[in-house]
Amino acid sequence: MFNTMTVTKAAGALIGALLFLMLANWAASGLYHVGSAGHGGEDEEHAQAYSIPVEDSGDGGEAEAEEQIDFAALMEAADPAAGEKGFGKCKACHKLDGSDGVGPHLNGVVGRPVASIGGFAYSDAMVAHADEAPEWTPEALQEFLTNPKSDVPGTKMSFAGLKKPEDRADLIAYLQSQQ
Ligand code: HEC
Repeated sequence: MFNTMTVTKAAGALIGALLFLMLANWAASGLYHVGSAGHGGEDEEHAQAYSIPVEDSGDGGEAEAEEQIDFAALMEAADPAAGEKGFGKCKACHKLDGSDGVGPHLNGVVGRPVASIGGFAYSDAMVAHADEAPEWTPEALQEFLTNPKSDVPGTKMSFAGLKKPEDRADLIAYLQSQQ
C-alpha cells in the first residue's frame, strides 16, 4: 500500500543512490586525473607533444633555409682578410702549399671533390660523405665548418666548429682565394 510518503521516500532513496554513484564516479575520475598528472606520465607526454614539433621546425626547413639565404648574402659581404686570421684555427692541421699535415692541404679546396687528395688517409666517414655531397661548395663547407662532427659523423677532424656564420663566410672567401 503506497502512500505519498512511501513514494517520496523511495524516490528519494533512488535519487540519493544515483547521486551517490554520480559523485563517486566523478570523484574517481577526478582522482585518476590528479593521480596520473602527479606521476608525471601525462605531463611528460604533453611536454613532448609540444616540444617535438617545435624542434622539428627548428632543425628542419625553416632555420636552414633562413641560414642559407643569409649565407649567400654573407658570402657576398665576406672579408677574405678576416678569413686569413680565422684560418689560424686550421693551421695546426692544414697547410695551403699543397702538402698534407694532420689534415689534407686546403689550397684549392673550394670546388674540390670531397676526400679527393691521393695519399691522404681519410676516415671512412669522410669517404662515405663524398657519396652524399661530392663537392666542397661554399655551402657544403659552411655546413661542415659549423660543426664537423655533426655534418660528417665519424670524421677524424677534431675541430669544434665555427659558430658565427660571418666567420665561416670570411674563412671560405679566404680559402677561395687560395688556389
Ligand atoms: C686538429 C686538426 C684539425 C683542425 C684544427 C682542422 N682540421 Fe680540417 N681536417 C682534419 C682532418 C684530420 C681531416 C680529414 C678528416 C677525415 O678524413 O675524416 C680534415 C678535413 C677537412 C676538410 C675536408 C678536406 C677534403 O679533402 O675532403 C676540410 C674542408 C677541412 N678539414 C677544413 C678545415 C678548416 C677550414 C679548419 C679550420 C676552421 C679545419 N679544417 C681545422 C684536421 C683538422
